[in-house]
Amino acid sequence: MLKIFPDSSSIADYVSAMLVAKIQAKPDAVLGLATGGTMEPIYAKFVAAARHTELDVSRLTSFNLDEYIGLSADHPKSYAAYMQEHLFRHLAFDAARLHLPDGLAQDLNAHCRSYSGKLQSAGGIDLQLLGVGGNGHIGFNEPGTAFDCPCHVVELAEQTRIDNSRFFAEGKIVPVSAITMGMAEIMQAREIVLVATGEAKARIVAEWYQGGITEAIPFTVLKRHPAATIIVDAAAASLLPEEATQQRLVANG
Ligand code: F6R
Repeated sequence: MLKIFPDSSSIADYVSAMLVAKIQAKPDAVLGLATGGTMEPIYAKFVAAARHTELDVSRLTSFNLDEYIGLSADHPKSYAAYMQEHLFRHLAFDAARLHLPDGLAQDLNAHCRSYSGKLQSAGGIDLQLLGVGGNGHIGFNEPGTAFDCPCHVVELAEQTRIDNSRFFAEGKIVPVSAITMGMAEIMQAREIVLVATGEAKARIVAEWYQGGITEAIPFTVLKRHPAATIIVDAAAASLLPEEATQQRLVANG
């Protein structure tokens, strides 16, 4: 399902309300979490809404999608630090239930197997939040990743490293590799919400909409998921064919 909103702020309202409702209905839900610029306004609104509604988040379990290899959890550019800054430190989560891959694991492949195992033992993901890379990656599953791939080590695509250099100070090198939850685990989530905002995502959103399902654009696998919602703002929808935009805007009132 495709939903088009005017801007990232209205998307953040919608997704944070959806998260609150989900957690109220199932306080011990398992969430799959993403990082990145797209998620920042969503986490900010969610924190405010959770405080406002006195939401109990202490029984939630979460699994983050990915982490850079070589960055410790307290490195300011690690995804562990991002999650602390934008979400975890603001609410009374149970830290023991918050999972991220360990970018400093000695045996990376064994760590990936253990991360997948923990996810399975937790019963899989109830709700997976996703952003999308300009090249169509989800998590750090870069173009060409097999759809049945579990959690694995990935060499980041050049475009991903260029896109993410905006988060690193000038002259600092963006890590070359990462651990990512696999396409298989993402697709096992019972519900998926992918958010794409801004003009930089317009081309990939149009390719997703118009094309078939292909490993060359990992994002397209979501067409196979029975409960995936793709939420875009007007800028990310700007290259969609007009009939798609008209239809969806009407559908969303
Ligand atoms: C982040 C992640 C990535 C991002 C994607 C979009 O945990 O898994 O797939 O969602 O790179 O990043 P932004 O939101 O910064 O454009």
